[in-house]
Order: sequence, then structure tokens, then C-alpha cells
Amino acid sequence: MSASNCGPVAREAMNPAILLVDFISPSRAELQSFLQSQQCDVATVSNADSAVSYCQQTQPDLVLLYDSLRDIGSFELCRRLKVDPLNHLTPVVLVKPSPDQWDIHRGQKAGAMDIWSTPSSPRDFLGRIQTLLRLKKYTDEQAKSEVFRLARSIDSRKNLRNGHSDRMVACAQKLGESLGLGEEDLQELRIACWLHDVGKIKVPEGILLKPGPLDTEERRIMQEHPVIGERMCAPLKALRRILPVIRHHHEKMDGSGYPDGLRGEAIPMKARILQIADIYDALTTNRPYRKALPPEEALQTLFSEAQKGWLDAPMVEKFAQICKESEYFPAKGRTIQAADYA
Ligand SMILES: [Fe+2]
Ligand SMILES: [Fe+2]
Repeated sequence: MSASNCGPVAREAMNPAILLVDFISPSRAELQSFLQSQQCDVATVSNADSAVSYCQQTQPDLVLLYDSLRDIGSFELCRRLKVDPLNHLTPVVLVKPSPDQWDIHRGQKAGAMDIWSTPSSPRDFLGRIQTLLRLKKYTDEQAKSEVFRLARSIDSRKNLRNGHSDRMVACAQKLGESLGLGEEDLQELRIACWLHDVGKIKVPEGILLKPGPLDTEERRIMQEHPVIGERMCAPLKALRRILPVIRHHHEKMDGSGYPDGLRGEAIPMKARILQIADIYDALTTNRPYRKALPPEEALQTLFSEAQKGWLDAPMVEKFAQICKESEYFPAKGRTIQAADYA
């Protein structure tokens, strides 16, 4: 049932995924086959741990949680599912034989979308399930456009990186193509370029726009942005595969980067591509306290960072070739802020 091989485009076209937790037979089998006949992908689990791990792996579009769990109560499981950032947007519905006001109150506190009484037939569920799936789709689209809007606003802040992410896309895409990435991976790489610094939305402007080096505390705050960005994108299933790229875009090959100190090929390939494009664009863009470097000098800096063990040396080599062939990705009116690749 795991869809880990699907990229963002493919995933969006998938059937809605529904998880049935502890629906006792024969209701479970009947409901499962009925929902499958309605073009839903349906998985079933019968205990809390399986429910939690399935939700982490798959981010279903709806969880129906039947109230007959033996290991932990359904309210507690609902709470556990909803605290996971990956399933923050996943509607969880509790199903009980005859819920009362107290159940409704507890369900709301646990984060349940609704509490339904046990249906007499699966068909009774269908209308309500369809409504929730439509709502989920709408919520996902709203959340996704909000994440892109925030990323765009980071890009266009005054004196900040005017069009930084768009220029990165051009560089990263060429490098990705030359390394043999297919269209699905390239699409993820483009999305990662647009969203890589979305976590900077939480960095105070005084730090983000500081026209000079950051002190230790400011640097610590700035360095939280990959983890914040990952958390912001986590509830969106369509962005699932780019989360490691966002999280690891400031790692270094020798393990001296952040947030996890990953080394070498443990750093996702798309993150290594993205960081070369990120740094190249930063260096070749005007900043408040210095002019843009000429492309040849920017490439020299990339080579010296590769020599220090920070960047992927063969990739930098490849990128230098592409740059020469692409006339160094000329861009007009570049402006950039100092803290761009803190
Ligand atoms: Fe960054
Ligand atoms: Fe950047």
C-alpha cells in the first residue's frame, strides 16, 4: 500500500487512501470491498502501532477508527495520529455504536474530525466519506498554495533574493539532467528549489536581512530553517518526497553541515545538486555589501568548497562544464541578501 515510489505528480492522480482501523469482521471486509468499488485504496490494520506506522508511511486521506481497540482506546490513538506533523491534515473519524455528548467532547479534544455511529450498511457511510475526501482535497490544495506563497514571499522580500529560487531551478535542472535524473525526479528537484528556504519565514527579519555576518546566536536561529521548512511541508502528501531535500540542503560532504551532520552520499543527491545551484546563484548575485562575483570566480569558490570537503566534487566539476556551455546562466538585475546561504 505504501506509495513511496510515486512522485508529486503521480501521487496527486492517485485514488484517495483510506485506512480502516479495527473494523471487526464482517463489517470490515464489507466496507473495504465497497470502498474499493468506489475507487478508493483501502488498507486495514487491527492495532494502534500498525495504525501509527501506516499513517507515517502513507499519509492516508481519511482514517476511520472503529471503537473496539484492545491495546489503547480510540481517543488516545486519534490523539497519537494527529500529533504527528505528517498527519496533521489527515481527517480521523471515530466510529462508535452510539456516541453520546461525552464521546463527542472527548473526540474533539483528541483531534477527531467527527464521530459517527456504526452504520447499518457501508452505503450509509459513502456520502459522508465522499464529503470528507472532497474537504481533504480542498484543504491540501489550500495548504500547498499557502506553502508556495510563503516561499515566494521569502524570495521577494525587499533587498532579499529577488527571483533566487527561479534562477536556482534553471541551474539545478541542467545539473540534474546531466546526472541522468528522470522527469519525476526533475519535477521534485524544481519543487525543492522553490521551497528549500520556506522555513526562513520563521526567521526574524533583523537576522534575515542583516547586511553582514551573523553572530553565533543569529546563526543558530538561521540554521533552524531547514528543519522548520521540512515541518511546514510535512502534512502535504504531495511534498513527501522532497522533505529530505529541504531538510538536508545545508549538509556538507565531510559531515560538518547541518542539521544532521550527514556525510557523503548519505546526503540526498537532490540536496547536493540543489546546494550547488543555491551557492552559485548566491555568489553571482549583488548583495548589500558587495557586488556579484563574476561567474568564473563563483566557480572557483565552488571548487575550493569541494576541495575543503563541503561540496560534491564530481558534481561541481559537472556543473562547471554546464555553466560554460550555458554561458554561465546569465541573469539580469540580481540582488541578494547576505544571509542567503547561512
Ligand atoms: Fe537554505
Ligand atoms: Fe537559497
